[in-house]
Amino acid sequence: MAREFSKVGVVGLGTMGAGIAEVLARSGVDVVGIEVDEPALDRARGHLASSTARAVKKGKLTEDEVTALLGRISTGTDLSALSDCQLVIEAVPERMDVKAALFAELDRLLPEDTVLATNTSALSLTELATGTSRPSRVVGLHWFNPAPVMDLVEVVRTVVTDPSVVEDVGALVAAVGKTGVIAGDRAGFIANALLFGYLNNAVKMYESKYASREDIDAAMRFGCGHPMGPLALLDLIGLDSAYEILETMYAQSRDHRHAPAPLLKQYVTAGLLGRKSGRGIYTYAGDSSSEVVPDALTPAGSAVDATPRAVTKIGVIGTGTMATGIIEVCAKSGYEVVFRARGEDKVAGVRKKVEGSLDKAVQRGKLTEDVRAETLARITGTTELDDLRDCDLVIEAVVEDLAVKKALFGALDDVMKPGSVLATTTSSLPVIECATATSRPQDVVGMHWFNPATVMKLVEVVPTVTTAPEVVATVLEICAKTKKHPVLCGDRAGFIVNALLFPYLNDAVKMLEAHYATIDDIDFAMTKGCGHPMGPFALMDVVGLDVTLAIQRTLFDEFREPGDAPAPMLEHLVKAGYLGRKTGRGFRDYAKR
Ligand code: 3HC
Repeated sequence: MAREFSKVGVVGLGTMGAGIAEVLARSGVDVVGIEVDEPALDRARGHLASSTARAVKKGKLTEDEVTALLGRISTGTDLSALSDCQLVIEAVPERMDVKAALFAELDRLLPEDTVLATNTSALSLTELATGTSRPSRVVGLHWFNPAPVMDLVEVVRTVVTDPSVVEDVGALVAAVGKTGVIAGDRAGFIANALLFGYLNNAVKMYESKYASREDIDAAMRFGCGHPMGPLALLDLIGLDSAYEILETMYAQSRDHRHAPAPLLKQYVTAGLLGRKSGRGIYTYAGDSSSEVVPDALTPAGSAVDATPRAVTKIGVIGTGTMATGIIEVCAKSGYEVVFRARGEDKVAGVRKKVEGSLDKAVQRGKLTEDVRAETLARITGTTELDDLRDCDLVIEAVVEDLAVKKALFGALDDVMKPGSVLATTTSSLPVIECATATSRPQDVVGMHWFNPATVMKLVEVVPTVTTAPEVVATVLEICAKTKKHPVLCGDRAGFIVNALLFPYLNDAVKMLEAHYATIDDIDFAMTKGCGHPMGPFALMDVVGLDVTLAIQRTLFDEFREPGDAPAPMLEHLVKAGYLGRKTGRGFRDYAKR
């Protein structure tokens, strides 16, 4: 029988502490909330009021429930008010000196069977626990922001934690409607250890002016279905907290990918801490507001100052999944489309697939019969490259092999009318290699679509050092007309999405390899803690482990970052032919399900 925690203290009522108090009180637990002074308590009350108001607006709570919830939270500035709490959770700033001093004080004031918990996300729990007289009754309870919304709580134990205490707090986590994952004491636990390398990488990408903050965030939202882009998420977490977490992770891992990006330090020093201070990487309508308002860095007007070339006819080369999707999208948007296949059977195959996809849209009421017929009438298949001669834009979507692509661009150079824009959908090869295979490198550009092209909104637009501005403008206009969200980035491995996503996936494999957490725990932590549509292992099984490995190798070759060396386990699985869903087995076994 688990010990009941009917009265719980929360020390530190910032974003996280107030959120934790709200979750506990919502489930009938009496909460004693402590802050340093009255202004801090006022801020906490404001936080509770706006969060619960949001819940009412969204139909998650009634006014009466909010009144009862707030009635269960008493607040004050004196730690002695915690004396009859069975559990005290601290959520004060992420600094060892601050947390250790508080734990010493709590240890002195509270009965010896009171359980002490810390919301730290990276500091050593073992150090905090052994600094008290009750190390076996100290645990980590790591919540995710916003605590009332995110389902995950990491329950952290040390080598001296009493297993029954872990069980008891685990039962509390379940009783307040959250799902606990048990983790050992390692900087970042499961979710942050994977998340923060990715977030830091995004700041470095932004800092290097490789892409704008808006484009980096849009890329991860529209390309991966994340609820927020990494830079907006950093503003939500708080740039000061992020900085401290990265510092601690770096101190433990000595992996310089965890060394906080210098830009992060600059924001923190300047007091631009994110949403909570009204300004961080973005500017907000006010302190603690989630509404982004324009600032000096907000892009005004079009990203390129050039007149697009007129496009009425688009050529597509290839018959794979990407090519077929692109053909459908372009034809649906009113363009005449000519596609080139390597044989008549493939021409027929593409037509059949597009017909099937349009039929489904009609059945679902998303398309009328007339639009279906008009779309199909705009598509012509051919086996001759010559038939693409008068296309205004050609999109190449053939196999990801540089020799093949270079030969194709050489052939297009011979065939295409002057002024035609030549685009490659490569996701990992240098676009400049395609450009220099022609005598018109100014007309060549990268246009990286996402699979399935009919659904995913993102297109990465990649000018090389030789691409003419009007060529970029042309591609941006095509994106607008096909209702895609373009992001602009330079011609380097992985562009935005793959460069940020794959090192994170590779890190997940390394965590598994280190036996720190299971596949299910890691996938669960990332979906429930960060709102990702899929956990890293589920995603790799869909993408294909061979594709994952190839992309990770390309990134490693380009950036020579030791921490990005492909995980040996990934190499072994690929060698064994366990490539993911497509072979029935990858990280998980699909054949047996
Ligand atoms: N109580 C209960 N539910 C609430 C609520 C409350 N107080 N406030 C909002 N909700 C619900 C809403 O009803 C809505 O639910 P629905 O989808 O079922 O309708 C849901 O929460 C989302 O709320 P909103 O619609 O108001 O807001 P958005 O759709 O804009 O989502 C977001 C906001 C939840 C922040 C989302 O963008 C998200 O999930 N972002 C990722 C957050 C993330 O990654 N957090 C982890 C960061 S790492 C961390 O915290 C660890 C630390 O150590 C740094």
